[in-house]
Amino acid sequence: MKKPASLLGNKNKFIIFGCGFSGSFFAETIRKFGCTVLTSSRSTSKDPNSFVFNSEDSIVPDKKIFDGVTHILSCIPPDKDGNDPVLEKLHGKLKDLSLEWVGYLSTTGVYGNTEGGWVAETDQPNPFQKRSHNRLNCENKWIESSLPVQIFRLPGIYGPGRSTYEAIKNQKIKVILKKDQVFSRVHVADITHAIIYLLQNKDSLKFHQIINIADDEPSSQIEVIQYCYDQLGLKMPNPILFEDAKNELSPIAQSFWMENRRVSNKLLCEKLGYKLIYKNYKLGLKSCFLNN
Ligand SMILES: NC(=O)c1ccc[n+]([C@@H]2O[C@H](COP(=O)([O-])OP(=O)(O)OC[C@H]3O[C@@H](n4cnc5c(N)ncnc54)[C@H](OP(=O)(O)O)[C@@H]3O)[C@@H](O)[C@H]2O)c1
Repeated sequence: MKKPASLLGNKNKFIIFGCGFSGSFFAETIRKFGCTVLTSSRSTSKDPNSFVFNSEDSIVPDKKIFDGVTHILSCIPPDKDGNDPVLEKLHGKLKDLSLEWVGYLSTTGVYGNTEGGWVAETDQPNPFQKRSHNRLNCENKWIESSLPVQIFRLPGIYGPGRSTYEAIKNQKIKVILKKDQVFSRVHVADITHAIIYLLQNKDSLKFHQIINIADDEPSSQIEVIQYCYDQLGLKMPNPILFEDAKNELSPIAQSFWMENRRVSNKLLCEKLGYKLIYKNYKLGLKSCFLNN
């Protein structure tokens, strides 16, 4: 990794709302730059840098938490009513801070189904699922919030501890074949390092409010599963045709198969010059395998 530049350092204080899979990877990495990082969770923790924030209860984080904060990253999805948990509860507070930057992790679900066609940031969103309509509303609320917000649209996130290997080991894998269906993906390390790259080069790069972070090679799910079975030295079970499998899938799993799109990373990787750590699922999964 490039040596941390002076643009991010001990003068910066980050709050990460929703320290789940992506949030904790980001928090851990940004601490290595010398930044102060506080993270939210819905439950209490012994970690002195963690505080409780749950949009569904009335506890508001102590105001000391916000002292000197310069950067915020929200990794929290819309709540059950479709509202943004952070803006619903804390917009008034955030507006009073001298924030340099606010990041919001969104999804490429807002593009809807393009039947395998590529989608870029300049394409009009066309959400298909209810949850993607909610997501687009939340994006719009962030844009209208008057905060210095940058939105990152993400496809399927994987990384150490959350990948097809775990699904195979936990026997949660279903090998489904659907002709011409692809999924885009991103390794959690590329989410973190793309954001850090943009922050470090903030003064020299043109600001884009919406940026896709995805790898170079959208691929079928079966290809990815086959690759993992091969790495594990196991035989992949025979695939089931989607038409035969769909009634056994949960509504959420079914909904993923109803959208087929390729997410373009040209803005991030060609125009803005970020170099992916994991250009495709093979490289990304190899790193998960080695960390297993
Ligand atoms: N997973 C994917 O493949 C994928 C793909 C595209 C986009 N995304 C989106 O990208 C973001 C990050 O994804 P992720 O998979 O890293 O997330 P994640 O691991 O599911 O973490 C989500 C975090 O949000 C917190 N949270 C949820 N509801 C909350 C509420 N009402 N009030 C306060 N906190 C709440 C959770 O708190 P606790 O820690 O207390 O549980 C958790 O820390 C999410 O918005 C996700 O929807 C995910």
